[in-house]
Amino acid sequence: MQAENYNYTIVKWFSVMACIYFVIGTGIGVWIASELAWPILNFDNPYLSFGRLRPVHTNTVIFGFAGCTLMATSFYVVQRTTGARLWSDKLAWFTFWGWNLVLLGAFITLPLGLTQSKEYAELEWPIDILITVVWLAYTFNFLMTLSKRKQPHIYVANWFYVAMMIMITYLHVINSLSIPVDMWKSYSIFSGVQDAMIQWWWGHNAIGFFLTAGFLAIMYYFVPKQANRPIYSYRLSVIHFWALTFGYVWLGAHHLQYSALPDWTGSLGTAISLAMIIPSWGGALNGMLTLSGAWDKLRTDYILRFLIVSLAFYAMSTFEGPVMSSKTVNALSHYTDWTIGHVHAGALGWVAMVSIGALYHMVEKLWNTKMYSIALVNLHFWMATIGTAIYITAMWVSGIMQGLMWRAYDDYGNLSYTFVESVAQMHPYYAMRAMGGLIFFLGACVMLFNVIQTIYHAERAPVAKDAQPINL
Ligand code: HEM
Ligand code: HEM
Repeated sequence: MQAENYNYTIVKWFSVMACIYFVIGTGIGVWIASELAWPILNFDNPYLSFGRLRPVHTNTVIFGFAGCTLMATSFYVVQRTTGARLWSDKLAWFTFWGWNLVLLGAFITLPLGLTQSKEYAELEWPIDILITVVWLAYTFNFLMTLSKRKQPHIYVANWFYVAMMIMITYLHVINSLSIPVDMWKSYSIFSGVQDAMIQWWWGHNAIGFFLTAGFLAIMYYFVPKQANRPIYSYRLSVIHFWALTFGYVWLGAHHLQYSALPDWTGSLGTAISLAMIIPSWGGALNGMLTLSGAWDKLRTDYILRFLIVSLAFYAMSTFEGPVMSSKTVNALSHYTDWTIGHVHAGALGWVAMVSIGALYHMVEKLWNTKMYSIALVNLHFWMATIGTAIYITAMWVSGIMQGLMWRAYDDYGNLSYTFVESVAQMHPYYAMRAMGGLIFFLGACVMLFNVIQTIYHAERAPVAKDAQPINL
């Protein structure tokens, strides 16, 4: 099938929006990180306070940046692996505008303090309904495209996308069930410990299916494509898929250790979490070993570097997560910055890195050109890697220090430190995190600039595929 027959326009728009949300989301991340280091930056203004801007950060990076990356790549991958054009262009555009409307709703309501107070599900009920409708339109379009595929086989990347779509639909709908009392206020139909359990069943699976399964789909398509080699083991990818899909849904309780939840649920969460190391590492190795015998490509391929480093971070965070889920370690790590370090090892090192690699790959293919500046891509790689390393190191040190200070007793059984003393000790690490974040954010700005320049030059004077890249 000729590429001209595919709907690439929608992929282009989602890709550009992903880059824009990347800059906005990480920019707000730097701002709130700076507020924690220098609270004066709140300016005594409720709209700028940490509590209100934090969900703006998480919603922008998760739904804006990660969501648009998932939609761009899934529409790209499904067309290229099935040989079929998207089933409906109209539905694709509805998804595009609807999804951006959700983000607009988040930017307006969250700073105003309108929230359901559920993590990663803060948005109030009208926006929740919009998310459901748009997500269903997206899912339906994807499934219908699969159904008119030109070959019997469904490539494994599409399996991961479909798992994400199905799981997110019912997790989002059930977790968001609430009774509205007016246009912008509603109360969850669950209460007490059930509410907590449903929330973390959603919370962990938002990580497991939105931030992991969807990005594994990206990995399974873009790593072999960029390396120009088949995936190391297709059989392993299928085992990876089933183990991940069945395992992840049992993990939520590890967020609620030592709470009002029955003890056995936490133990179950721990046991399955530990078991998840096996499929996760199987998947990471599958991606990395795709390069076996061709590691030299990493010296020259400026896009492959992002993809392979992302797999190293994926392996690292999927080892760290199970360790943190054990009750002994969780007793120390819970409530501390260690969790935040773990989150960003996964979010920056894995989700963002693999997305960046996929976005650069798609920009070159979609506009049939080379990146405007390879030097800037390389600069971005180092800024992203160094920024991530500084961020997570700072959080590990501050997190473990917090945990140890909070549990230290003197000879008389009194707490050795007040809470405020522990906060004061955090200052250097919060400043360090803000610096690491700033470097990462500036890297995202470099990417946006480079992508815009690439598109601008490609649209004005299309360059042949084998043309020499412009080196700044
Ligand atoms: C410049 C880069 C970034 C900076 C400086 C940054 C900073 C922050 C800060 C300060 C918090 C609040 C921590 C706290 O409550 O103590 C946070 C939370 C969070 N961020 Fe980021 N962030 C960045 C990028 C990202 C990206 C790219 C993602 C996802 C793809 C992400 C996902 C999250 C999540 C999920 C949380 C909530 C964590 C939790 O509740 O445990 N962040 N971020
Ligand atoms: C096998 C894989 C993983 C396991 C078993 C796991 C386990 C855990 C555990 C035990 C916590 C701390 C819960 C608490 O004390 O409250 C946690 C928090 C978190 N993890 Fe993971 N993790 C895994 C992989 C990942 C990956 C790859 C990402 C990112 C893409 C990620 C993102 C997060 C986030 C966002 C939180 C914070 C949730 C919150 O409190 O708001 N995890 N994870």
